[in-house]
Order: sequence, then structure tokens, then C-alpha cells
Amino acid sequence: MSRRVWQLLISLLSLLTVITCSSSQAIRLTEEALKYDNNIIQISNSDLSLFSGPRDYSTVLILTSTNRNHVCAVCMDLEKIVSQVTKSWYSDYLHTNSLFFANIDLIDASNSKIFQYLDIKNIPHIWLIPPNESIDFADSEIENFEFKILDDGHFVFQVPIAKIDDQVMELARFLTQNLQKSITVREQSPISTFVKTFAVTFFVILIIKKNGPSKFRNLPKKNALTIILISLMLVCLGGYQFTIQHGTPFVAKGHKGQIIFISGGTHYQFGVEILIVGINYTTLAFALVSLIHLGNYKVTSTSLIKSNKSRYIIIMVINILLYILYSSLTSIVLRKDHGYPYAFSKLF
Ligand SMILES: *[C@@H]1O[C@H](CO)[C@@H](O)[C@H](O)[C@H]1NC(C)=O
Repeated sequence: MSRRVWQLLISLLSLLTVITCSSSQAIRLTEEALKYDNNIIQISNSDLSLFSGPRDYSTVLILTSTNRNHVCAVCMDLEKIVSQVTKSWYSDYLHTNSLFFANIDLIDASNSKIFQYLDIKNIPHIWLIPPNESIDFADSEIENFEFKILDDGHFVFQVPIAKIDDQVMELARFLTQNLQKSITVREQSPISTFVKTFAVTFFVILIIKKNGPSKFRNLPKKNALTIILISLMLVCLGGYQFTIQHGTPFVAKGHKGQIIFISGGTHYQFGVEILIVGINYTTLAFALVSLIHLGNYKVTSTSLIKSNKSRYIIIMVINILLYILYSSLTSIVLRKDHGYPYAFSKLF
């Protein structure tokens, strides 16, 4: 499918899904952003009319110059830095129509009116301008109406002196903090990262498989080690890395002071969720392993389970338990994503 058709389809879809909550202006901006490869709207002729009037979206405004005469080293890499964050934003939050990126580059002399209006002496500037719905289109008569957005309060992002990857991370963190939406910056080339990780993991497993068992079998405290390793694995699976990176609280309190164990939203979690999910996985595993064990179980006169009838009853109980435990997992997912289609019973 050609890129244009694809983009049109995406904008149509986003239009359909959010028509009730995004303004038509925001949807127009999404369409505009999709015209650019890096989704950054390029301003020319000092024309900010797209951003005039009431705004139900946030705006990242970049004031820069890639004109060599303006001697700004950071400015040369700026678009590359912002692009990475923009791409991540658009792959996760396209349909929200809630954030737009605009680049005002002084290499296009027709943009100088904006720089004069702001009386800017140094570049670059990266501003995050929050929504402001109190600006009225009825004011459009007043002078410089389309520059109104420039007068609004904004957060300033200082590009740190660091490697580009770190600058990208800092910008993503800055936006995450102010928008309360987690932005995950994608690797530049996911395929090569995948191949590298795959190769390394594969060879490590090969080596362990070849030499591991004999060494492991002779280890003292083998069971303790097994438990520690499995716990470590569960902690990693439960999202330990995420909670550390984002510094999320262990639990949170709701409006009425009640404790919230499971955060809403697919892109967030509390520390306690590692524990909840870990325990859920562990009990699920126990249930499954006992089913396998019971399947091979031989009822004898000396065995713990005295008759096949009790064995069947236990198997049935464990099956019900399995269902409940799995439902509990999918109920957690439902808390985060109400539209999750593969849930079993909703338990909480
Ligand atoms: C929002 O716009 C109104 C009208 O232009 C302005 O008075 C107000 O200061 C703006 N709010 C912020 C937070 O900038």
C-alpha cells in the first residue's frame, strides 16, 4: 500500500475513534503532522495559524536555526533528536491527537517575524506549551492573534550537553514527566538489535546447556539457588526495570484515600504490581505442575491419595483454580486496557 493511502487510512481511523473527544483542529494537526516523514510540522512564512484558537492539545515548539551563519552546533542535531521522540510518540499515541511538534527554523528567512515577535537572541529553544482552551476564535480580530500561543506559559527543555542518545532520552523523560504519558524511545534499528541479542542469548544458552548441567548438579544448596533464580526471573517479568527507570511509587492512594494496587493505563505500573503478578505466575505454575504430576500419579495402598476418585476431584479443583488464577491475570490487564479482548472472568 502506498504511504499516502496508508496515512489517509490512519487519519481516517483516528478520526473515527476520537471524533467525540478531540477538536477538529487537533485532528487537522494530526493530518498535517502525518504529511512529514518525522511527523514534525515545519513552519514557514511565520504562519502559526494552525495553532491559533483554543487548544485541547499540547505543543512542542522548536525555535532553531540550521543556518551555518547563526553558528549553533546543537541546532544541527536538534531535528534528529526530536525526530526520535516524535516517532515514538506517533507510534504509541497517534490516535490521542494530544501532542504536536512544530519546528520553526530560521534558515527559512520568512520565519523571522516569529523570532522578532519573541525578541529571541539565542537559539535553540524547545518549549512544551500546555493546552489552553480559553482562547476564543472571536478574538481573531486582535493584533497578532495567530501568535497568541507564543504568549502562553510553557515548560522549557534545556538540551543537555551529552551524547545524542542521552539527549533523546532526556527529552523523552521531560515530556513523560509533564504529559504523564510514558514515551518509550525505539531503537534506531530494531532488526540489528534483535539479531545481536538473539545471537548472544543463543550462544550463552548453548554453552550453559553443554557445560551447565554437570556443574549445576554438584552445586551445594541447589534448591535455594533455583528458588532465587526463578524469583529473579519473576521480578524481571513483573516490570522491575520499568518501575526503576520511571521511579514509580510502590502503591498509590486514590482521591478518597483508598489504596490503589493496580494502576490504570497500559503504559504504567506500580511497584506492588511486580509482587502481585509474581505471586499470580507462581501459583499458576504450581497448578500446572501439579496437574502434570497428578496425571502420572499411581494410586497404591501406600500412596497419599487413596483412590482414583479423590484424584479426579483434586484434578477438577486444580482446573477451577487454574481458571480463577488466569482470570485474575486477565482482570489485571482489563484494569489497564478496558478493551482487552482475551479476558476470562472479570474478578475485580
Ligand atoms: C490562555 O489564554 C488566555 C487568553 O489568551 C490567557 O489570558 C491565559 O493566560 C492563557 N493561559 C496560560 C496558562 O497561558
